[in-house]
Parts: sequence; structure tokens; C-alpha cells
Amino acid sequence: MKWEKKDIISIKEFSRSEIEFVLQKSAIMEKIMHKSATSSLLSGRIMASLFFEPSTRTRLSFNSAMYRLGGNVIGFAQSTGTSVEKGETILDTAKMAEGYSDLIVIRNPLEGSVRFVSEHVKVPVINAGDGANQHPTQTLLDLYTMQKEFGGIDGLRICLLGDLKYGRAIHSLAEALKQFNVELKLISPPELRMPSRITQDLVELGVDVNETSKLDLSDCDVIYATRIQKERFPDPQEYESVKDAFILNKEILPQLKENAIILHPLPRINEIQPEIDETKYARYFEQARNGIPVRMALLCLLLNKKFW
Ligand code: CP
Repeated sequence: MKWEKKDIISIKEFSRSEIEFVLQKSAIMEKIMHKSATSSLLSGRIMASLFFEPSTRTRLSFNSAMYRLGGNVIGFAQSTGTSVEKGETILDTAKMAEGYSDLIVIRNPLEGSVRFVSEHVKVPVINAGDGANQHPTQTLLDLYTMQKEFGGIDGLRICLLGDLKYGRAIHSLAEALKQFNVELKLISPPELRMPSRITQDLVELGVDVNETSKLDLSDCDVIYATRIQKERFPDPQEYESVKDAFILNKEILPQLKENAIILHPLPRINEIQPEIDETKYARYFEQARNGIPVRMALLCLLLNKKFW
């Protein structure tokens, strides 16, 4: 794969060997960071960070990654205060960022919008989340976290839990897991099941998929919980009826495997109670921290800076 000037729009465009390449380079980057938290690998380079939708982890970890590499960041955390308020389009906004930077990271609520932008600008574009569609860099850090914990991904029994209909992190992760030899348990309220196009693909590719509404986690190595995505429900009443469907608290701990881990892309609302945070199962804060080496590695790859 040619990484220089590549866009990262969908995890579906990554082969297994490309995913493994990123995970391997992220591990090297993490080792480099352990020696020194900052470097000058991307000194003089500029990343444009265009967030049209709220974010804490993705935006801050991309910014932190760029600063740790000696680069600079321009951009905005919301369109308020930009010329989008005057009616400027996302494409014109991105075309401006193209002239002012070496790489663009975009989050936008409209599915497909980041791909559209990538087709019209020459600098690399990274999708930081487009509606309920894709969040490819989240998936890479999720897989990196699993690999760090278990030494590999093949053979894992993974439970995806919560809002499987609207969660883009879940959709991206499921698409990536097609490439691995895993067993998937999909636990959700009936109204929030995984889109059938994704489950059908998984089954056709030979992944063992079990869909249920029963909160049985006893056979899972990885429990990947998600927030019910309130902002994507067309009907607020529908959200109210499912918002407390699955809550992980201390009562569920006795059923977990000894070495099981609980992940979550965050933010959480109430689906993982704080009493879980200090247990040996919780890995979601570490997972979020893993976003730094993974995104540092990706920035170097796309900006053609070899670090291994
Ligand atoms: N996981 C994730 O995308 O978090 P943010 O929305 O805070 O970026």
C-alpha cells in the first residue's frame, strides 16, 4: 500500500495486512514515545482539524499527536465562528484548509461528506467520523488495544453491546473484524440491531455471529460497550424507551471471564457505571490513550515520514 498522500475514509478500504501494518507501526511509535514524549518528526508540517460535530478524544488526541511530533495545528472545534455561519459549504471550507495545511482531519454529521471532500482536495484527508457511518481511526485504536491485551485478535470472542444501529465506532469495528478469525456476539435492544448489510457480510465471510437482546457476557473476552446515540434518533420517544437498556455495573462482574476486558469508544452516559472504572476489567481510558500512538503513526505514514 502507498501511504503517502493516502486518505483514510473507511476501514473497509484496509486489507488485513494494512491494518496489521498500522498496528505494528503504532507499537513502534509507542516505544519511541516511552523514550521521549515529543519528537521533531513532523516539524514544520501543519494539520487542519475541522470539526463540525462535538468531540473530545478524537480532536484532542489528533492535536496532541501532531504537537508531540513537532507539528502545528490549525482549525476549529465547531462551525460557530467560522464562515460556515455565513453559508460557506464544507467543500469550500476544506479547500481553504488545503491551501493552509499539509493534511486535513474532518468530522461532520453527514454520512459520506468526508469522502466527498477527499475527492476534491489534494492533501490527505482523515475521516474523524461522518454521521453514523465510519470512524476508521477509532477502529485502529480499538484493534491496537485488543492486540496489546491479548497479543492478537484471531480467536477472540468479542461482544458488541448497546446501540449497534447508529454507532459509527461499532460499524467500523464490525467491518474490520470481518478480516479476523473472531466470534461476534451482538447484544442490543431489538430496535437497535446492527444494520443487516453488515451482519450479512460478516456471516458470508465466515464470522460466527450471534445476535441477541440478552445480557449474557460469560463467554466474552472483549466486551465493547457503546452509548445509545441520542443525537441520531429521529424520534426522541424512541430514545427514551431504550436509553437504559443495558447498564454495566458491579452486578454483572461475577459472570465475566477472568481475563475479560471492557472497552468503550467513549463518551459514556450511564451504560458503564463509574464503579466499574477501578476493576481489573476496565480498559476504556487506556483505550482512549492508545489513540495517541496510533494517530501519531498514521500522521507520519500519510505525511511520508519514516520512523522505523
Ligand atoms: N470516541 C470518540 O470518537 O470520542 P469523541 O466523540 O470524544 O471524539
